Amino acid sequence: FGDGALARLNVVVSAGPTFEDIDPVRFIGNRSSGKMGFAVAAAAAQAGARVTLVAGPVSLAAPAGIARRIDVRSAAQMQAAVLDACAQADIYIAAAAVGDYRPAEVAERKLKKQAGADMVLKLAENPDILASLSAQPTHPFLVGFAAETHEVANYARGKLQRKGLDMIAANRVGEGMGFETADNALTLYWADGEVELPRTDKAALARQLIAHVAERYKTARA
Ligand code: PMT
Repeated sequence: FGDGALARLNVVVSAGPTFEDIDPVRFIGNRSSGKMGFAVAAAAAQAGARVTLVAGPVSLAAPAGIARRIDVRSAAQMQAAVLDACAQADIYIAAAAVGDYRPAEVAERKLKKQAGADMVLKLAENPDILASLSAQPTHPFLVGFAAETHEVANYARGKLQRKGLDMIAANRVGEGMGFETADNALTLYWADGEVELPRTDKAALARQLIAHVAERYKTARA
C-alpha cells in the first residue's frame, strides 16, 4: 500500500477526546476537536501507510485514504480498540486527549440536583494506553503527544521516559493554541535529539511530523 515514506507499514493513530459518563445525561471529558489526530492520520495515509484511526467523540469526517476508522467513547473503549489494532501495527501515534480519570461509579439513572448542597464526585484512575503498550515485550514504535501549559520540555521529556516512548510531540495549549484551533506548533523529542516545528496549520504540521516519524522509525529498526 502506497509508495511514500511509510509504504508497507501499518500505522494506528488515536484522535479526539474521551468521554467518561457520570449518569445517562452527564459526562466528564477533555478538550480536543480531533483535528490534530485526523491530520496525522491523513498525512500517514498520504505517506503510503495503511492507517487505522481510533477516534473519540468528534464531529469530523474520516480523512481520505485511511483503511479503517473505529469510533469509541471512553478511555477503556479506546484502550481496547488501540491494543487490538496495535497487535498488527508498526507505528502507533497517540494524538488523543485521553481522560486520566473516570467516575468511580456510573449512575444508571439521572442524578437529581440537591439544591443548596455541593456534590462530590469520586474518580477512579484510567489505564494509561501508551504505558500498557510499552510494557508489552513486542510493541509498535510509539509516538506520544504531550499537551502542556508550562514547562513544556521538562514534562514532555518526563513522559517520553516514563511511558517508554520512542518519540513525543509536545504542544503548548491554552491562549488560542493547541486544541480546537486550526494551527498548532510542536517540538519533537526523542532520546538523543529534538526538533522544533513552528506554528502552521495542522495539515502541514502533520506532514512534517510524519516525515520525522518515518526517519526515526527507520533509524530505530535499522
Ligand atoms: O484535537 P485538537 O483540538 O486538534 O487538539 C490537539 C491536542 C492538543 C489534543 C493534541 O495535539 C494533543 O496534545 N494530544 C495529547 C493530549 C494529552 O492528553 O496529552 P497528555 O499529556 O495528557 O498525555 C500524554 C500522552 O499519553 C498522549 O499521547 C495521550 O494520548 C497518552 N495517554 C494519556 C492518558 C492515558 N490514560 N493514556 C494515554 O495513552
